[in-house]
Amino acid sequence: MAVLEIVSVGGPQSEILARPTTRVRDFGPKLHQLLDRMLETMREAPGVGLAAPQVGVDLRVAVIEYPDDEDDPENTMRVYELINPEIIRSKGAECGQEGCLSIPGLVADVDRATYILLRAQDRNGREFRLKAYDWLARVFQHEIDHLQGVLMTDKATQLYKLVKKTDENGEEGYDAIPIEEAWIGNRLVRAEGKVAGVQVASSR
Ligand code: CO
Repeated sequence: MAVLEIVSVGGPQSEILARPTTRVRDFGPKLHQLLDRMLETMREAPGVGLAAPQVGVDLRVAVIEYPDDEDDPENTMRVYELINPEIIRSKGAECGQEGCLSIPGLVADVDRATYILLRAQDRNGREFRLKAYDWLARVFQHEIDHLQGVLMTDKATQLYKLVKKTDENGEEGYDAIPIEEAWIGNRLVRAEGKVAGVQVASSR
């Protein structure tokens, strides 16, 4: 199965990342194929979550894959398919660092609720409720924000640039370097989504 192209901020089709998505009404084979391909695309990226607008699709759909139990040594992964998700309760607040497949090279500090209760439908349209805590709750909030056209950079309290590094054992990794502002697409953004400038599109 071919993976889908990920829409990144500033790239082709990126307007879709800033728009609220349309509710799913058709739970047929087309939706199932979209979910399967989104999961493949997310795994290949690799990422923990992916929302439909990130693959250029205007639908209220997200997939997430995360260990079922963080303390499980076998690290059994669980896939969550969220169709038309809504957060119906949230509690607590914690600042944490997150990244986004549509904003490569950048991470952001974002305040998120530490507990959420959400309502969604599965791929066959059956409604379910789900509780999530801490990091998993953060992932759900990030993906559901995508479905409203909201990006992590709209809520960031601090932005960081990822810089490749090699440690003394030759292991490759990244350092997150705090930055004052960053170009997100054609907008120069400061923390908390403040727009510091807009690049005028060149005429064609
Ligand atoms: Co994202």
